[in-house]
Amino acid sequence: MDFATSGERDTFVMQHSRALDGDVSIGGAKNSVLKLMAACLLAEGQHVLANVPDISDVALMCELLEAMGVTVTRADHRLVIDVPAELNTEAPYHLVERMRASIVVLGPLLGRFGTARVALPGGDDFGPRPIDMHLQALESLGATFSTAHGDISATAEVLRGAEVVLEYPSVGATENVLMAAVRAKGRTRIVNPAREPEIGDLIEFLNQMGARVGWSGDRLTVDGVERLAPAPSGDGYRVIPDRIEAATFLAAVGMCGGSVFLRHAVAGHMAMLIRKLTEMGMHIVVEEAGLRATVTQRLASADISTLPFPGLATDYKPFLVSMLTTASGVGIVTENIFTGRFRYIDELRRMGADIRTEGHHAVVRGVERLSGAPVRAHDIRAGAALVVAGLAATGETEVAGAVHIDRGYEDLAGKLAGLGASITRR
Ligand code: EPU
Repeated sequence: MDFATSGERDTFVMQHSRALDGDVSIGGAKNSVLKLMAACLLAEGQHVLANVPDISDVALMCELLEAMGVTVTRADHRLVIDVPAELNTEAPYHLVERMRASIVVLGPLLGRFGTARVALPGGDDFGPRPIDMHLQALESLGATFSTAHGDISATAEVLRGAEVVLEYPSVGATENVLMAAVRAKGRTRIVNPAREPEIGDLIEFLNQMGARVGWSGDRLTVDGVERLAPAPSGDGYRVIPDRIEAATFLAAVGMCGGSVFLRHAVAGHMAMLIRKLTEMGMHIVVEEAGLRATVTQRLASADISTLPFPGLATDYKPFLVSMLTTASGVGIVTENIFTGRFRYIDELRRMGADIRTEGHHAVVRGVERLSGAPVRAHDIRAGAALVVAGLAATGETEVAGAVHIDRGYEDLAGKLAGLGASITRR
């Protein structure tokens, strides 16, 4: 894998782009592959993952696994992960600090070894992002925690299946408790679990490793097993397509107009988004191999409210806000998941957007057009949303902080350029 683009060419530069046209291939989901990589810790042996995106968060997760004693080989969108019998069960601060998702090694380490020491992740651009629900859920299975020197130490002599009630369907807490419960003694029922497609992918992967996880109504039931083994490899376990990358290209065609085929995009993973975009005037046709999106006129505004799956994902919101900035009418946006996730709005204002924020609401009044300006990406999705906005703005837009975008996108500039967009890295 080649991550040379990060740092060395830290800006995306866009000129006003004509209508987009062509075919773009959606890669594997970042928010799935990182968890599947952590799940590999549950079993000794050789694991193979396919459809792995070439993004810097995957490289970081490789570093984390390697720091624990795992050998990882990366090539051609595949990862070969060799997990030894013994592991160093510590996740050090210098890695956790760079990627909050590292916390997801806690569950599998506890599940397999009954012990783990993980640096506490700090806050990030969305706000504090606590892990209290992860810890409470694992405590229900019998784990105990102590913190010292910025690390959290977890131990469990025996993990026992139990009823685990999540007060909110946290994605990370659901993943951590699932990966511990698969090795607990007896049955665990997870009440109010997250239901994102990436959770479904993790369940499928765990079951292929020999776990017994299933849905019973709206609860997850996990029957603990004595041992897990690598999923039968063949060509490797295929990571599901990235619905958020797909949303990025939908937003690009929404803002620039045109007709684009999103190969591999799965409509069932993004039903609410498709509904919302249709309401705004996009024409989206579901085909067997993906989605075709066509836009022939200025979009109409709509109100947006983020919710856990199957609601509209918080990760789609920056793209929807970008689209609303040039849609006709007024859209009210309500962020219910990460209340601090509005910082990029100041950057959009620099481009001429008319947006007023009040607490976790934003009122977006569509303007005829944005005007290109130098702006800065503060996180992955907000950064990509600024790139998309730059394609529709007059003149030149330069988005600095590309290193954030590279965490979750493989060759965003190349893929957009392939659709006719005027974009380069500098
Ligand atoms: N929360 C708590 N306590 C907890 C856990 C979560 O208060 O113990 C709160 C969070 O602070 C937040 C809300 O619950 O306000 C949702 O957090 P959740 O645990 O569901 O999210 P996450 O696991 O931290 C994942 C994705 C995010 C995505 C969210 C919501 C990964 C690596 N990250 O985060 O994706 O926005 O779910 O769907 O899977 C991204 O890809 O850029 C990204 C941020």
